[in-house]
Amino acid sequence: MDIVFALKHFFLSGHYNGHRVHSPNIFNFFLGTLFSKESFDYSLAEDCRKKFLNNNSSINVLSIGAKGDGKSTEKKRISDIAKKSSSYGKYGRLLQRISSYLKPQKILELGTSLGIGTLYLYAGEKNAKVITLEASTETAEFAKNNFKSLNLENNIECINKAFDSVFETILQQNPDIELFYVDGNHTFEATIRYYNLICKYALKTSVVIFDDINWSREMSKAWSEIKKTKECIVSIETFRMGIVFFDNNLTQKNYIVRY
Ligand SMILES: C[S@@+](CC[C@H](N)C(=O)[O-])C[C@H]1O[C@@H](n2cnc3c(N)ncnc32)[C@H](O)[C@@H]1O
Repeated sequence: MDIVFALKHFFLSGHYNGHRVHSPNIFNFFLGTLFSKESFDYSLAEDCRKKFLNNNSSINVLSIGAKGDGKSTEKKRISDIAKKSSSYGKYGRLLQRISSYLKPQKILELGTSLGIGTLYLYAGEKNAKVITLEASTETAEFAKNNFKSLNLENNIECINKAFDSVFETILQQNPDIELFYVDGNHTFEATIRYYNLICKYALKTSVVIFDDINWSREMSKAWSEIKKTKECIVSIETFRMGIVFFDNNLTQKNYIVRY
């Protein structure tokens, strides 16, 4: 995380608590998600994360993504992965509320890890089919076993493949994906490439969530480019997450939110 980005975000952000938001649909989105006062049951994801934080067993994790070579593996404790690489806290909860608000019939997540983000997304809309991609075999196996132990193997499909080998095919085969969560391979080039593919195949009503938009200069640059594309009608950014709406019935705008 870069202090320059943090300060820039702080000074630019102004649309908070919904008061200065104009477009009616987006106003409702703010009230139903970022600033919802409703109480939600987050226990599905949060009980699993709690259990994983106490799990001292280890798995071999493939080094892939922005810092990985895609070949070597490293032994990691489940407790460490749960602590460092899984959704949690207000951002995990936000995923669930976005899913609950949008009620997507199909969700695609890039980057399963242990499946905590997946469970937040699923918990928001239990009628949804969730497809989630993870290249690291033992990580994907761990997540799959957990989905099975929760009897969710028919609701959540975890595909153990590198994004690049399957992403376009999945998009072609699933034109009904309404919510995307991009949470892996945080390089500029890959993020833009995934975004362009989503733009090519997604529905006009689809919504895309990018995690870690200020995690690195590359991610911050990728987010700046994404916001400028003609497909991005509305963008909402917190310091950490960027959300894109393609729907051209909405009033074009970028909202920067203190969350
Ligand atoms: C930050 S973690 C995902 C966390 C999860 N979405 C959550 O919310 O709990 C990113 C995951 O993406 C996977 N990943 C990164 N690059 C990938 C790629 N190119 N193909 C497939 N998986 C990848 C990593 O192995 C890692 O498990």
